[in-house]
Amino acid sequence: MSVLKAILWFLVRLPLLLMILFLSLVMSSCTMLGLNYASLEVDNKAAPSPAIDVPVLVNSSEARADLMEQFEDILYGPWPEGMPVKWGEARIVSEDILDGKGVLKEIPVTVGQGEGASTFMLVLALPKGDGPFPVVINETFSSNCSVFPEYPVTSPDGGVCDGSQMDGVVGSLVTKMFGEYIAYAPLDRFMDAGIAYASFYGSDFVPDSREQGPAVMAALGGPIQPTSTLMAWAYGFTAAIDALQAETPIDPDGIAVMGHSRFGKSALIAGVWDRRIDAVIAHQSGFAGASLSRSKTGEGLARMAKTYPHWLSQDIQPWLGHLDELPVDQHELLALLAPTPVLLGNGRRDVWSDPNSSFRAALAASAMYEAAGQEGLPAGGMQQAFEPSAGIAWWLRPGGHSIVSEDIDSFIAFLQTHLQAPSRKVTAVQARENHVDSVR
Ligand code: GCU
Repeated sequence: MSVLKAILWFLVRLPLLLMILFLSLVMSSCTMLGLNYASLEVDNKAAPSPAIDVPVLVNSSEARADLMEQFEDILYGPWPEGMPVKWGEARIVSEDILDGKGVLKEIPVTVGQGEGASTFMLVLALPKGDGPFPVVINETFSSNCSVFPEYPVTSPDGGVCDGSQMDGVVGSLVTKMFGEYIAYAPLDRFMDAGIAYASFYGSDFVPDSREQGPAVMAALGGPIQPTSTLMAWAYGFTAAIDALQAETPIDPDGIAVMGHSRFGKSALIAGVWDRRIDAVIAHQSGFAGASLSRSKTGEGLARMAKTYPHWLSQDIQPWLGHLDELPVDQHELLALLAPTPVLLGNGRRDVWSDPNSSFRAALAASAMYEAAGQEGLPAGGMQQAFEPSAGIAWWLRPGGHSIVSEDIDSFIAFLQTHLQAPSRKVTAVQARENHVDSVR
């Protein structure tokens, strides 16, 4: 009887217990659904280390190459330099999108050689007119079917898309949680801004899977294979740029790459290793992206590397127990990116990706941008940091891990200042060319 009573007692309280468990999970920083806020306090934390030696990194090509090599050796594995890229003829998906604002095309892009070469579909929306148009290349979590649900683009299995993953109850819940644009491409906004929009599904190239990802990378062929999916996805941007060179309305000096979260990490990597990139948008890139590996808040590099071992090189594993001794940290990745303009997007409730340490990383790298004649981060802390014209633009909005309308506004403002306004554009392109010359 007493056992039965105890079971009943437990069953009656079960919903309450589950609710408490759920709320404590949600409110802790251990989940990407965090309802708590990122701290705005930066003065009470240690400066990012190792310190950046700005004059050396600006003037010495060896110092730059050494630092890139350290990131390859420890975190990302080798950049697959020389991996063959081929692309097929563009197919017109729709001659007229958004009441005549643009044209939608699709280009098959193949990376690697031999039987293991991998092909993905690059979808390209071009504004109507002669151009040249700057372009932003977005690498996505969702298949092209969910990104372009209104158009007959090719599905990952080679057929024509029939519905989006965002249809139905689950899809609408995902959209509520992760934002209107977590999958859906805001084509109208980009076409109105005169910016071409290219997009591909990262897993269409190298699957985001701890089993299949490494197998696909190893089979790619080519002189050097990537050993982390973050590096491979970064090379996906490079392959997309190669294919876009054949599209004459695209301005070759107006190429931006963009990614959210895991693909934000890859967008930053691409900007460092492929200097044809003129601007980078890394939204909520978190650990192994713009957030410091030594940070004690948020997801943490160690947890990320355990949950997603295929994202990083296996050489990170021995460091996970003593990240304070890691020879590199992510402010140095941002320093390597300079003077290529970068927008780092953040949500105040996205504690998981650690906005606070991303801000400290940006603050430390800002001097590299200033050394190249770009605007650095404005003074005034995290809430006053956003200046679209800065070389390093740091954006904070309320809310969590998502892509919402105001993010798109900030992305477009940033791209317009850096890739369209003639005077800024010349300065930015020139600054990077001077820099590349100085480190040759
Ligand atoms: C997970 C992961 C993060 C990553 C995120 C994303 O939450 O822990 O590191 O940034 O997925 O890609 O959305």
